[in-house]
Amino acid sequence: MTNAKVALVTGSGQGIGRAIALRLAKDGFNTGLVDIKKGKVETVAREIEALGRKAAIHVADTSRQDEVYAAIDHTEKALGGFDVMINNAGIAQVNPLSDVTPEEFNRIVQINIAGVLWGIQAAAKKFIARKQKGKIISASSIAGYEGSAMLGVYSATKFAVRGLTQAAAKEYGHAGITVNAYCPGIVSTDMWTEIDKRLAAITGAPIGDTLVEYSRKIPLGRIQEPEDIANLVAFLASEDSDYITGQAILTTGGLVCR
Ligand SMILES: NC(=O)c1ccc[n+]([C@@H]2O[C@H](COP(=O)([O-])OP(=O)(O)OC[C@H]3O[C@@H](n4cnc5c(N)ncnc54)[C@H](O)[C@@H]3O)[C@@H](O)[C@H]2O)c1
Repeated sequence: MTNAKVALVTGSGQGIGRAIALRLAKDGFNTGLVDIKKGKVETVAREIEALGRKAAIHVADTSRQDEVYAAIDHTEKALGGFDVMINNAGIAQVNPLSDVTPEEFNRIVQINIAGVLWGIQAAAKKFIARKQKGKIISASSIAGYEGSAMLGVYSATKFAVRGLTQAAAKEYGHAGITVNAYCPGIVSTDMWTEIDKRLAAITGAPIGDTLVEYSRKIPLGRIQEPEDIANLVAFLASEDSDYITGQAILTTGGLVCR
C-alpha cells in the first residue's frame, strides 16, 4: 500500500484554509494544519480525524521565516511525507491610502507577501531535498487583478503573490515543482464580515449593505462559500493539474474576468 500524500495548509483554523484542509482530507491527503490560533486548528484536526485521515498541528506565524521552515519540518516528520504546500494565511486591512501608517504597511506586507515567499522557498527546498515533485499553491485574490478602493495595500500584496507565483514557477519548473495561486472573489468568511464592518464605518453605509451591493454584481448570483475555493485548490493539488504552472486562477463567479 502506498502512503497517503501530505499537504500543509497555512491559516487553516477557519474560513478558506479550513475548507481546503477538509477537502484535501476527503481527497485522501493527511494534512499539516498551521495557524496562529491553536484552539481553532485543534478543532479542524478533530474534523479531519473524523474523516479517517491524519492531521498534524503546528502553531506558527507565517510572517516569520524560521517558523514556516519549522512547520514544514514538523509536518514531514509527523505525517511521513510532504507533497503539497498551501500558502493560504493572510490578513486584510481597510483604509484609505491617505491614512496608511508605516506600521500597518509593514505588518500586511510581512504576512501577505513575506509569508508566501517563505512558504514558497521552504517548500521548494524541501521537495528538492526529498528528490520529488511538489505543488505550491498560494492565496491571491480578485484584488490581485484589480485594485480595490479602501483595500489598496491589501490589493498590492495580492498582486505581489501573482508575481511571486510566476517567478517561482519559472525557477522551480526544472525540479518538477508546480507553483500556482487561487484568486477568490467575495467569500463568506470572518475576513469579509470584518471588511464590511470597516467599510461601513468609513462610508457610513449600514453594516451588511456593502456586501449586498457587491453581491448583486456577481454574474453567478451569489457570494462564494469557502468550499467553492476548495474545489479549485483540490484540482491544483491533484495530478490532473500537472501541466499547469505559473497561473493565478480567478474563482469569482464571473465578477472579474481575465
Ligand atoms: N474572504 C475573502 O473574501 C477572500 C477573498 C480573496 C482572497 N482571500 C484570501 O484567502 C485567504 C484566507 O482568507 P479567509 O477569508 O479564510 O480569512 P480568515 O480571516 O477567515 O482566516 C484566516 C486564517 O489565517 C490565520 N492567520 C492570519 N495571519 C496568520 C499568520 N501570520 N500566521 C498564521 N496564520 C495566520 C488566522 O488565524 C485565520 O485562521 C487570505 O489570504 C485572504 O487574503 C479571501
